[in-house]
Amino acid sequence: MKKLLAVLLALSMAFALVACGGNGGNNTADNTANNTNNTGDNTANNAGDSGDAEQPGAGKTVGIAMPTQSSERWINDGANMKAQLEALGYEVVLQYAEDDVQMQVSQIENMVAQMVDCLVIAAVDSGALTAVEAQAKNAGIPIVAYDRLLMDTDAVSYYASFDNKGVGTAIAEYIVEAKDLEGARAAGESYTIEFFMGSPDDNNAVLLHQGIMEVLQPYLDDGTLVCKTGRTSFDETCILRWSQETAQQWCENYLSGFYADEDLDIVCSAFDGFAYGCRSALESAGYTEENWPLITGQDAELMAVKNIISGKQTMSIYKDTRLLAEKCVTMVNAVVNGTEPEINDTETYDNGVLVVPSYLCTPVAVDINNYEELLIDGGYYTAEQLAE
Ligand code: BGC
Repeated sequence: MKKLLAVLLALSMAFALVACGGNGGNNTADNTANNTNNTGDNTANNAGDSGDAEQPGAGKTVGIAMPTQSSERWINDGANMKAQLEALGYEVVLQYAEDDVQMQVSQIENMVAQMVDCLVIAAVDSGALTAVEAQAKNAGIPIVAYDRLLMDTDAVSYYASFDNKGVGTAIAEYIVEAKDLEGARAAGESYTIEFFMGSPDDNNAVLLHQGIMEVLQPYLDDGTLVCKTGRTSFDETCILRWSQETAQQWCENYLSGFYADEDLDIVCSAFDGFAYGCRSALESAGYTEENWPLITGQDAELMAVKNIISGKQTMSIYKDTRLLAEKCVTMVNAVVNGTEPEINDTETYDNGVLVVPSYLCTPVAVDINNYEELLIDGGYYTAEQLAE
């Protein structure tokens, strides 16, 4: 009981610590590498040296493999998890692979060689880690999949993520309401739309597209939505490694070709990074306030929220990385200390070998009407950060 209390206390302290940063570690949009360990930082740090045997992580090390620092959300994820784990006495090895599959494989191989007590992995390519995952399993090192499901492996114990299909549904439902597609359908009107979907090696991207199409397909079928490129399937719209540059290039091509004589009304983008790329393409093509399209995104990055405030992006999906980190930390504690973490889904996330027990957090649509309440009152960003 005493131990349980200590764990709870430490967890709430960790959460408070992260939250009282004023922004949950989310102050990094313009300065991506300065509040967390950089790629090369392979040294476990000091919190675990306290030797407090009451702490669940005392004397234990967690290896965290993150995909990239090019997008703000992963920096926040890494920083939040590191802070929360250290507050529980764990030592943490945090590494970023800069979207390089081989680099991530070697980083995890090193963590296995170091005999960390648990691995937390957000994969660059979810299916490319099977060999190193098997090595971890043979070495008795449990793995928790973080945000992105690890595919084709039996070495993963738990999965912490958001409801990824729900992200797609929320984006699509936002479009339906904001453009009043029911009204448009009744009046025989239509809107043009183009899709910019996530990476084909990320299961989240596939589910997100499914969620979008579940809601929007009927409007495409009856002509209320018109996709002039004809590119609506996942295969036609997925963008490898979630590349902002590719999204921008596609958008430039679409605008100068298919949309030379007619405005693009809706940019259905699966990621804030794509929204930035499309924004540049639209500006270069001469779009103004008068004909600026509805643009969606995902992650509620600082820059995206600023763009929402200035009208250059319409909405994003808020995924509280503090909460996700907290859920993941309870999974780490469970596998390391032999307890049961909280799970709320045992059916959805089949990785091809097993259905991975998951905790799914709820994504929320954010726009000009609710950003203050959700993000500022919720302590995710400060008003000052958004005003800068
Ligand atoms: C995450 C998204 C993120 C995307 C690009 C996905 O796996 O779920 O939140 O926008 O990767 O980094």
